[in-house]
Amino acid sequence: MNKKSPVSRSGRFAGGPAADVAQFTESISFDWRLWQHDIQGSLAHATMLQKIGVLKPNELSAITRGLKQIGKEIAAGKFSWKPELEDVHMNIEAELTKRVPAGAKLHTARSRNDQVALDVRLWLRDEITALLKEIADLQRALVTLGEKNAEVIIPGYTHMQRAQPVYLAHHLLAYVEMLERDCERLWDCHSRVNVCPLGSGAIAGSTLPLDRKLVAKLLGFVNASGEVQLTQNSMDAVSDRDFAVEFCAAAALLAVHISRLAEDVILWAGAEFNFIRIADAYTTGSSLMPQKKNPDIAELARGKTGRVFGNLMSLLTLLKGLPMTYNRDLQEDKERLFDTADTVRATTRLMAAMLSHTLVNKLACATAAADPALLATDLADYLVRKGMPFRQAHHVVGAVVALAERSFKPLNGLTLAELQEIDKTFGRDALGVFNLKTAMAKRNLTGAPGTKEVARQLARWREQLS
Ligand code: ARG
Repeated sequence: MNKKSPVSRSGRFAGGPAADVAQFTESISFDWRLWQHDIQGSLAHATMLQKIGVLKPNELSAITRGLKQIGKEIAAGKFSWKPELEDVHMNIEAELTKRVPAGAKLHTARSRNDQVALDVRLWLRDEITALLKEIADLQRALVTLGEKNAEVIIPGYTHMQRAQPVYLAHHLLAYVEMLERDCERLWDCHSRVNVCPLGSGAIAGSTLPLDRKLVAKLLGFVNASGEVQLTQNSMDAVSDRDFAVEFCAAAALLAVHISRLAEDVILWAGAEFNFIRIADAYTTGSSLMPQKKNPDIAELARGKTGRVFGNLMSLLTLLKGLPMTYNRDLQEDKERLFDTADTVRATTRLMAAMLSHTLVNKLACATAAADPALLATDLADYLVRKGMPFRQAHHVVGAVVALAERSFKPLNGLTLAELQEIDKTFGRDALGVFNLKTAMAKRNLTGAPGTKEVARQLARWREQLS
């Protein structure tokens, strides 16, 4: 038994919890990182308590000074966290009360249930803002790589088989689009995170005349039109973790996108493709094979996706059987949430840094893109322009491909006579289809990898991300 009871146990309990119980139930080892937001919330709550007459002006200034001082000490690493005080909320409050007697009034009409809901929302709001910046940096790194290699054409793949030529920039911009949707989802999630739960108490609000609007305003819980955002049901407010799930779901999809990008990077960096060279500082070597240069950042980006998915599943599972309202199970939300935020932020940042230190092997790309088979569909389109139904044109070009294969020639190595033997529709201009430059100039539908369209998209993104 502890000699001194933690704040929450004074009165009702004869002593503190058994040592292993304290160890099992503590959360300070991970929720200490909410300290800034916990203090921020307490400052707003205290300001409101003074406005409604619960605190005297001098008590408010003492509490404010005390909290700020504690904040300074925590930031400087000089604060000693006590596991027997369970969590960040009680550690800060107990220390404050030790220094400032009026600190004992701070928890008026507040429960750790609405306090923790508040802290996590405040913390997540900042995390989302920071993550959005990292994603924009990654988008900019992709656009820059595309711009620097604007003329580079590579084979586009379906089923991992060469399909049709695309500009490298078009391939990279596909990820910029995915990341933009991730930003939209995160921003949408932000609007539901950005709602103030304080004033919900433990479950049923308070009999005291709290000014919830004032607290929310002080903490910046306002929407784009400046309207204060308050939770509307105290029971929901203390037990809702939808916003955390939404964030973890949006983060999981972000992780999927980054993982796919990582996979492309890994393939391209290998000798079989040899499309890119990642700077030494962003690769690692092998302890045994001297020649190795491994794309570990991309591999870890792909690998870390697993824990981001796992965290989402943990949160969903954590919530599914909870009766109303707050249950201690909810304490398990934090590590999953923190780990997700840390993982996606670091991954996004490192992928951006790696791409900013990656060179494109233009020769290897040009060699791969010179494969005339990539333009087989263009040859079918040629026949369509001459009036042939597409199904028939597909069949005819199939026969051309088979003939080229049989005679060990590249597709553009067949003679006009050989083409005409398969179908009379082929004219003298048929082989002109295999000019890659003209072929790329023709693909100018919105969203297609044509010369003009890709330049337009690059310019659009450059402008949008600046
Ligand atoms: N550390 C707790 C959590 O993270 C704070 C809320 C505790 N509330 C309670 N009634 N025990 O969920």
